Amino acid sequence: MAPFLVELVHHQQKAIMTNRATTSFPILDVLAERWSPRAFDQSATLTMADLGPAFEAARWSPSANNLQPWSFIVGFRGDETFDAIVATLSGFNASWAPHASALVVTITNTLTASGRQNVSARYDLGQAVAHFSIQAQANGLSVHQMGGFDIETLTDSLGVNEPLEIVTVLAVGPAGDPATLSDEMAERELAPRERKDVSEFVR
Ligand SMILES: Cc1cc2nc3c(=O)[nH]c(=O)nc-3n(C[C@H](O)[C@H](O)[C@H](O)COP(=O)(O)O)c2cc1C
Repeated sequence: MAPFLVELVHHQQKAIMTNRATTSFPILDVLAERWSPRAFDQSATLTMADLGPAFEAARWSPSANNLQPWSFIVGFRGDETFDAIVATLSGFNASWAPHASALVVTITNTLTASGRQNVSARYDLGQAVAHFSIQAQANGLSVHQMGGFDIETLTDSLGVNEPLEIVTVLAVGPAGDPATLSDEMAERELAPRERKDVSEFVR
């Protein structure tokens, strides 16, 4: 999608639903506005270039010993990789995630260069995904992370071998209209967003 279209969709997305977090302290707009939609704009298509800024943000995230253990496999709606990922989605994920423009498999290298266990492998991947999500949000693309998929089947079908390990799948694309969802999922989509208070997890 051309950058101006991403911008346009961003504005439309805001018109559809912002779902902005209610915060006790001021935070960056892009953080307050990030959320995980299930309704995606089914008319939107993306290319690798559209995801370039988000992968660039992931690239510049910190990692233990700068090992950068992350890697990603991207499927775009309509291609073989996308279909292979969709085939492994479980539960509700199988109904909404196929409408995203892209599905991104997140992978980490569990070993260091010297062959030792990298205890930070998943931590570092998670941080790279956080950077990816925020940059995507800034570019008008929503990201919905998923752990609900058949990891063994996906590992086999994508040919991911040790020491690489699949961790999550990301649904990526411009958010859509909640009215396109089933009643049950629309209710969840429109439910107030909840979080613990900062005082409950900081002492
Ligand atoms: C590791 C991980 C796994 C998740 N798995 C799923 C999933 O399988 N299906 C789903 O609908 N949401 C999944 N989520 C999304 C969370 O439910 C969501 O981030 C959380 O409810 C907070 O909502 P928000 O992202 O809109 O603020 C997952 C999120 C993470 C970080």
